[in-house]
Amino acid sequence: MSDTASPPIRLADYCPPAWTITDVALVFDLERESSAVEATLALRCDDPGATLRLDGEDLELLAIELDGRALAAEDFAQDGSGLTVHAARGLAACTLRTRVRVHPAANTRLEGLYTSGSLLLTQCEAEGFRRITFFVDRPDVQARWRTTLRAERAQYPVLLAGGDRMAECDLGDGRHEAEWHNPHPTPCYLFALAAGPMARVSKAITGADGRAIELNVWVEGEDAEPCRYALGAVERALRWDESRFGRCYDLGVFNVVAAQDFTMGAMENKGLNIFNARYILADERTATDADFMGIESVVGHEYFHNWSGNRVTLRDWFQLSLKEGLTVFRDQEFTADLHSRDLKRIDDVRLLRARQFAEDAGALAHLVRPAEYREINNFYTLTIYEKGAEIVRMLHSRLGEAAFRAGMDRYFADNDGRSATLEDFYAAHSAATGIDCTDMLAWYAQAGTPVLDVERSFDPSTGGYTLVLRQRPPANVPDAAPLPIPFRLALYAADGRALPPPDAHDADPIPGGLLLRHATHTLRWQGLDAEPLPVLNRGFAAPIRLRMPMRPEERARIVQVESDGFARWDALQHLALDVLLARAGESVDGLGDVDAAEAALSAALGALLADTQAHPAFVAECLALPDFDTLADAVAVVDPGALAAARERLGLSLATAHREALQQRVDALRAAARGGLDDAAMAARSFRHAALAWLSRVDGGAAARRLWADAGSMTERMAALRALLHAKAEGAAPAREAFAAEFADHALVTDKWLAVVATRPAADALDDVEALVAGPYWHPTNPNRVRAIVGSLARLNPAAFHRDDGAGYRFVAAQVQALDAINPQVAARLLGAFEGLPRWTVAARGAAIAALAPMRSAALSRDVAELLGRLPA
Ligand code: BES
Ligand code: ZN
Repeated sequence: MSDTASPPIRLADYCPPAWTITDVALVFDLERESSAVEATLALRCDDPGATLRLDGEDLELLAIELDGRALAAEDFAQDGSGLTVHAARGLAACTLRTRVRVHPAANTRLEGLYTSGSLLLTQCEAEGFRRITFFVDRPDVQARWRTTLRAERAQYPVLLAGGDRMAECDLGDGRHEAEWHNPHPTPCYLFALAAGPMARVSKAITGADGRAIELNVWVEGEDAEPCRYALGAVERALRWDESRFGRCYDLGVFNVVAAQDFTMGAMENKGLNIFNARYILADERTATDADFMGIESVVGHEYFHNWSGNRVTLRDWFQLSLKEGLTVFRDQEFTADLHSRDLKRIDDVRLLRARQFAEDAGALAHLVRPAEYREINNFYTLTIYEKGAEIVRMLHSRLGEAAFRAGMDRYFADNDGRSATLEDFYAAHSAATGIDCTDMLAWYAQAGTPVLDVERSFDPSTGGYTLVLRQRPPANVPDAAPLPIPFRLALYAADGRALPPPDAHDADPIPGGLLLRHATHTLRWQGLDAEPLPVLNRGFAAPIRLRMPMRPEERARIVQVESDGFARWDALQHLALDVLLARAGESVDGLGDVDAAEAALSAALGALLADTQAHPAFVAECLALPDFDTLADAVAVVDPGALAAARERLGLSLATAHREALQQRVDALRAAARGGLDDAAMAARSFRHAALAWLSRVDGGAAARRLWADAGSMTERMAALRALLHAKAEGAAPAREAFAAEFADHALVTDKWLAVVATRPAADALDDVEALVAGPYWHPTNPNRVRAIVGSLARLNPAAFHRDDGAGYRFVAAQVQALDAINPQVAARLLGAFEGLPRWTVAARGAAIAALAPMRSAALSRDVAELLGRLPA
């Protein structure tokens, strides 16, 4: 705790390690309360004379010997962060053996070795391995690993570690032992073990290279059936990486374990992925469609790390986006290839614009490759992940699929078994393609979202049409230089025909578009009959804010003429955003009369609802109005009450106008919605449930009650329950009681209804949340439960979080401080809810700053202290 004074770590200070570890042998004697870890490290010194320094935290040192000789007290020194071995000075190589004791059951940080239910588990990324044993805990130290696990057989019948299983034997005294071997050079953050009573589902397959591979998905207890879907996802991911990227799996076994207590979503440990149970366990009785989709994508993500992260790892943590941004890009493509590319793009851009843009414009904004940090755990952010993925996507757009694939092959070949930097990645792509794309690195070194201002002009006398594109620095980074932007556009003639590309331009052509490199570019067309309709940043090829005033009827027409699904959705969202902003009192260029604009929006939605050919899932995406974060991102000063109110009013007005059409399509899709887990059935449900959210605003909950009575799957039950509870409709309370009772012993389903309660869009939802935190559902050591209750309120309930009396801010601040003593990572993430503070109204800002004030004098973790230090005081 309390570490405010520790200096930041700087990228500029990077030095290769003086001592590296080539081989590791670990022997664990596993017990809940106290486990012993013996580590034998083969060490090599590359810098003669350098001191041997090992990281280690909260370790009780039991024994230490160097090259077979027990060390005396003066031969080494232990402090709060590690161990210095004086006796190794001057050696070129040595073998160090240590024995330490750790306390898994008392470990609520869930970093290092900890317990979850009856299981013993590890979580090492980023710097958790130093809580297991003394080690050079940095990603550029890669060793070969042998792990021996010993434990009582009755309590720990299954013993798993990373790599392939070598041997298993009985130790005679009720204990047994298993040995695992990982032959690939691997940094310690990818080490894992899992032990305890577990059941599995399993499948034997043959890899594209002929390797026999056993796929296993494990869960605590005796029933592994809920792991079936995840097992299928593992196989789909493996096959996809073989065919799209030519990457094969490289061990004889791939184990995945589901854990009820897990801080993050999942972790890509070599050969032994460990997952938050919410991204594994699923059947139609307990999981929603969104859960199934989330499972497939997270399973894919962690699997894909086996190449992008594990075989090629990071030189240092500043390069985090090299593995995370790239792997998010890969998991996005996986989902797009298996399902709908347009819908996937819509979902990803929605998240990026609502949350990453806000992060990049707020108090916690940081570079995709930060220059410094105090606590690396604070940098697993939307900027590293989602913006990082967008940069890789821009590279893909610029090169095209075939050249991108050649660049990836080169990157993997050149860096296999090594630790790499972002420079290595762009160098490989440049070398393989002959296209110098190292200018993309500028995206990693500049915070904020670039703005592209577009000016259009048409000369009816000549038919000349001009677009002037001006790149402007982000508001919070006024001195930013222009970045390379791949740009896609289309022009439509009056009859809906797509026009050819510009006759003249000053940009570089790339597949399907142009590369903008300068502050200003001009594109010209000649001989047009009439002013065309421009559709810009098609497919959202670059993560920028596009500013071009457009009339409402122009945006509405894009929905009719455009073929790119993303661009159609984007046009409608933009129109809705303009209307919402105008209703909230903002001035919006090009909008004109706001009533007329709302009428245009309503007509466009009406046309979509009437179009029986329109894809139901696409229409559902269009029904979802821009969320609070998207609105907040678009204004200079955020008045939370005014934005939330404008959104509620527009929703009510559109629901009133389209009540019949909505009801009609809801009924028409009833049978289709019953079709299990295929995409068509999911699409029907997503339409019905989006429509239900609208209908329940105007029908007193009638449609929701019908769905509740009729619901087949968890997807339908949750949609009905949410509509009832959020509308406080008749029947809401008994529905909640019945649901809570039915799933009282199912933690993941309980999390779902708790999150519904915590997101009811009303100021007094805070009272419900305070009651939950005081009651039997509150388990502050379980990250999922904390997120379901407090995280939902802080991040997804602006009406309650931004309460006028400041009670929402005070509640969240008090929770952050209390949770910091349990799990600093969970606490620090909650504090992120205050990132937008600099742009809130004077009153909101004052209330939030006052709410955070008591924390400033408290003893805090490095995680919370670092973020609090970046928030205005
Ligand atoms: N490597 C991360 C897990 C991680 C994050 C470990 C932070 C330690 C600290 C993993 O690959 C990951 O990115 N997981 C995501 C889910 C993913 C689908 C984006 C997560 O845990 O949220
Ligand atoms: Zn990841």
